[in-house]
Amino acid sequence: MLKIQSLTKKDISAVAKIANQCFRGYGSFSGAKKWLSCNFGAYPRMQYFLAKEKDEILGYILWLEKGGFRKEAVWELEQIAIKETARGRGVATFLIEQSLKKILSYLKERGSKLKTIEVTTGTENQAQRLYQKTLNARPEAVIKDFFRGDEVIMIARL
Ligand SMILES: CC(C)(COP(=O)(O)OP(=O)(O)OC[C@H]1O[C@@H](n2cnc3c(N)ncnc32)[C@H](O)[C@@H]1OP(=O)(O)O)[C@@H](O)C(=O)NCCC(=O)NCCS
Repeated sequence: MLKIQSLTKKDISAVAKIANQCFRGYGSFSGAKKWLSCNFGAYPRMQYFLAKEKDEILGYILWLEKGGFRKEAVWELEQIAIKETARGRGVATFLIEQSLKKILSYLKERGSKLKTIEVTTGTENQAQRLYQKTLNARPEAVIKDFFRGDEVIMIARL
């Protein structure tokens, strides 16, 4: 059974391993670990959640708030990655849906509501379908030559 939980300090190495396997940008495991530790320290502006099965971490998601702690909050789904061996069976869908509930309840407790979600990915990345399906996000613009290629900005308005 899949479970969702917030990232804890002791999980940082395991998550850095997944991050480094899934994205080239970190350059190395230690580069990924440094990036994760930095983001972990930026709670509550940045919030990581993990999908676990038994005690195995299958993937992670990073949400981040933009433009201040606003009443009408704007958040970005900054990154999601699932271990190669666990892909294609709904783990990312589960992680997006369940973590969004956590963000919504965090905002409710704070007295804010979620206005807009931004998510970007490479124009070639199939994750666009995932974002459309789970968040009802739609492509709004393409930025040329951003990371390794063109990047599509998708927006969900709530
Ligand atoms: C993108 C990623 C997170 C999807 O994880 P997943 O657990 O396999 O996704 P799910 O099983 O929940 O699939 C959900 C939907 O996404 C789409 N999808 C996801 N990956 C896909 C792929 N490689 N090819 C085609 N469709 C894909 C499918 O439409 C699927 O919908 P369906 O169930 O109706 O077919 C995973 O492939 C991954 O970690 N990739 C590397 C990192 C990355 O590119 N992250 C996103 C950019 S930040």
